[in-house]
Amino acid sequence: MVETFNRSWNAGSLVKAKSSPNNESPAIQRASMASPRRIPNKVKTAAPPKHSKILILDFGSQYTQVIARRIRELQVYSEVVPFDLPAAEIKKLNPNGIILSGGPASVYDKGAPQIDKEIFSLGIPVLGICYGLMQMAHHLGGQVVFTGRREYGAGMLHITNGSQLFDGLGNQLDVWNSHGDEVTALPKGFLAAGRTESSDFAAVEDRQRKLYGLQFHPEVAHTPRGKEILQNFVYHICHCAMDWTMGSFIEEACERVRRQVGHEKVVLGLSGGVDSSVTAALLHKAIGDQLTCIFVNNGLLRAREEEIVQRVFGENFHVRLKYVDATERFLTALKGVTDPEQKRKIIGNEFIAVFQHATEELLGEDGQTKARKLAAATPSRGGHGHYKFLAQGTLYPDVIESVSIGGNPAAVIKSHHNVGGLPEKMHFELVEPVRQLFKDEVRQVGLQLGLPKEVVYRQPFPGPGLSVRILGEVTPERLSILREADTIVQSEMKASDWYYRVWQSFAVLLPVRSVGVMGDQRTYENTIVLRIVESQDGMTADWVRLPYELLARISSRISNEVKGVNRVCFDISSKPPSTIEWE
Ligand code: XMP
Repeated sequence: MVETFNRSWNAGSLVKAKSSPNNESPAIQRASMASPRRIPNKVKTAAPPKHSKILILDFGSQYTQVIARRIRELQVYSEVVPFDLPAAEIKKLNPNGIILSGGPASVYDKGAPQIDKEIFSLGIPVLGICYGLMQMAHHLGGQVVFTGRREYGAGMLHITNGSQLFDGLGNQLDVWNSHGDEVTALPKGFLAAGRTESSDFAAVEDRQRKLYGLQFHPEVAHTPRGKEILQNFVYHICHCAMDWTMGSFIEEACERVRRQVGHEKVVLGLSGGVDSSVTAALLHKAIGDQLTCIFVNNGLLRAREEEIVQRVFGENFHVRLKYVDATERFLTALKGVTDPEQKRKIIGNEFIAVFQHATEELLGEDGQTKARKLAAATPSRGGHGHYKFLAQGTLYPDVIESVSIGGNPAAVIKSHHNVGGLPEKMHFELVEPVRQLFKDEVRQVGLQLGLPKEVVYRQPFPGPGLSVRILGEVTPERLSILREADTIVQSEMKASDWYYRVWQSFAVLLPVRSVGVMGDQRTYENTIVLRIVESQDGMTADWVRLPYELLARISSRISNEVKGVNRVCFDISSKPPSTIEWE
């Protein structure tokens, strides 16, 4: 299960879109279509000023977040900000260094993103990558030409002038290029620091002003020693301390939460997915019993899911957990429904209603205690009394505002899409303690807080649950078939060690029956499809080339052990054009 629980809130208001001409992922489309009623953001992303910090100005590169992650891997806090953040604002943020990302534009394009060139005079070290280098050269008096051909692929960098950027890296480096513009004349004060076969200015620097530029991408794996270049920049040129660790994050996040919440109570929708689980564990550490988790069983969960969540959180962590079994309610609402959008809408609406009812019940339960007096003394806020805060496992990629370049609608503001469907009248204030973190950081936090590996590394699971994997009507019988098949897929994936190597592995039940033979009997039964994909973030995906033996074992176990199935197929579609889920 996953963070997806949060997203299920807006499942109703969002359309499950198939791949669109702009290749935008449905996830982003869902985000962009989220309800405009947004809950105001009460939490600042910025880390406390005591940390070293690198700002990354985003010019729309697909690698911007990769740069941010690489810097954090160096245990230095990094933050992505829009390319047009004014120099005065940047000065206030007081970063140790600035990185200008790449981007798809040419500096001469009409409407191309342009930096506030005062940034180069702040005295803060700047590293321009690809388009970032072009910005630097263009605004400081150099010459940039549009070559008309994009240079992609591997190249060899010959290091020429002993730049600090390349300390300890020898005379030549394998690098990865992806650029269209090229610097043909350097600005005053700059020197070439490295060249490739096609460019004399593949690496440049102005040591005096601490301005550096790279035409290639140090952040990608195809530049094998790129991390060391970034290290040189961050540690030796920007003098950052390695003070961004998950241990220190936990302490600071707890402090922040305590300051924000005071003595108020917090409610959290726990799905058992990574993000909500880590958020629950972190809040429990911070505020103990001021936190109550609500776990809604919508009847669309995997086998034994509710048991696992209750065991991990209720029994092991002693988190105050309210378990709501709403199976019947969801299944009744889904009766006879086959349209995928309709299913999502129903599940989204039911969830909100159940969640709201559960918070009201909590109030009633609290009424037995001293808290009732407190609630009575406090004017009701939209029917929640003293449950003033709602905690969510929003992550950093959800709050970064993507840059739209060249009118490309792919880049939309993704912030807050988790809460798009929450009715405004619920009047919760948000607590989002992990919104500074990337997924891999959330996992580290989870491990440090003592969550089991099975929770921390579990695969994503959509909010609308198995319903989007049952094509056609969702009935108890069909749910039971899919659950059994899914359990076999999970257990074989885990036993063969493939489970943690893929993004998702699951079974889908088709509304198709076909003829088979079992013993001497002719059968006419259901079809299961195996969907096993690899992906970085769910935006794009490819099917996994699983060993035939493993596929054979899963197939034969499903058709032998799951009553009602006589055929197993393997989905060999990538995303795009297909999506990961089938509905
Ligand atoms: P698709 O099917 O859009 O899935 O390629 C991309 C990723 O998102 C997950 N997913 C969802 N998560 N609520 C969620 O929280 C949803 O409604 C939802 N639909 C899809 C999916 O499992 C995959 O990881």
